[in-house]
Amino acid sequence: MNRVWQQPLPKIYTQLSDAELRLRIESAREALGPKLAILGHHYQQDAVIDFADFTGDSFELSRKAADQKGVEYVVFCGVHFMAESADILTDESVRVILPDLGAGCSMADMASLDQTLECWAQLTEECPDQTIVPVTYMNSSAAIKAFVGEHGGAVCTSSNCRNVLEWALKGGAVEGHVPGRKVKVLFFPDQHLGRNTAYAMGYPLDRMVVWDPRQDLGGNDARGLRDADFVLWKGHCSVHALFRPEHVDDVRRNHPDMKVIVHPECKWEVVQKADMAGSTAYIVKQVEAAPPGSEWAIGTEVHLVNRLRNQHPEQKIVVLSDCQCLCTTMYRIDLPHLCWVLENLVEGNVVNEIKVDAHTRKWATVALERMLAIKGTGNPINKVQPVGTTVD
Ligand code: 13P
Ligand code: SF4
Repeated sequence: MNRVWQQPLPKIYTQLSDAELRLRIESAREALGPKLAILGHHYQQDAVIDFADFTGDSFELSRKAADQKGVEYVVFCGVHFMAESADILTDESVRVILPDLGAGCSMADMASLDQTLECWAQLTEECPDQTIVPVTYMNSSAAIKAFVGEHGGAVCTSSNCRNVLEWALKGGAVEGHVPGRKVKVLFFPDQHLGRNTAYAMGYPLDRMVVWDPRQDLGGNDARGLRDADFVLWKGHCSVHALFRPEHVDDVRRNHPDMKVIVHPECKWEVVQKADMAGSTAYIVKQVEAAPPGSEWAIGTEVHLVNRLRNQHPEQKIVVLSDCQCLCTTMYRIDLPHLCWVLENLVEGNVVNEIKVDAHTRKWATVALERMLAIKGTGNPINKVQPVGTTVD
């Protein structure tokens, strides 16, 4: 990962009050007019969301980025992998800016290209008679997306993971795949999204193995590796790891009318106990569609949960866990950084541009466009399948 670290902001931006920052951001936006689009992920703080032209989950924002025609600048209020995808999906002329370069994602950093190449070499050697389709969650570097694109796979997000896995299990776009040949999905980098989705599709847990990049054969024996339908990379989200099954038990005990809805980055044990699981956009839609008096314990990042609580005072909404489930990297995008990048743009200086190199861009585009072409947004709802059932 060749990321440039964030330079300290000029002092003035740290001394301005929120009210002053807001005024300055507003006038910079006016000056930039239609040249600018600001995209904001659901986990951004309210102060930033107030300035977003579009908000959404990572799937919706990737679509929005791809739709940006005629703008010169996309300021992406989210994390690094999202800004990289926006750069890949926008025309060459569009410059994508991440207000704080320190806004990374610990999960995306859990799979490097070198580790991926090593895994691929071992897996293809052990399973020469199988079609291996790599699928990567959006939360990965552009280099991993490019690897996936070059090897007949696709990107997925938490809102279309099931559709992408269904496509992959038919052989994806792997050259030379013939119907009837065993297909294995290599899923990066979130083992939980992979496991939760595959399980909801009817695959029992014993058809999945975890690949630990620090161990030979990923920590598996050759037989287990060959038999598996899913090889799940050993990665996770440190925010969603904070939700535990006991939190769901507490809700059941103390709030019997409360529904538990969680993001599929939560552990399988949590998703199994929850009532529903889906992407951030799915969670927003469920709450918006619920009648007054509904009660929710939500297992996802605290800023989204707090926003939903404020927007729906007619419902009772709590975070599933009482620990601070905060994505500290998303939180790095704040008014001072937003103001700084916008005022630089007004002056004609493009700071914090995210630019993916040409080779990576070529193949990552293939992987992202395959995802956008796969129809449907089947959420991996946790309808529990009896363990032992398999799909045809
Ligand atoms: P969504 O796909 O729901 O936007 O989630 C992205 C993410 O980073 C969740 O941790
Ligand atoms: Fe990454 Fe987790 Fe933050 Fe999402 S919530 S950006 S997966 S660290």
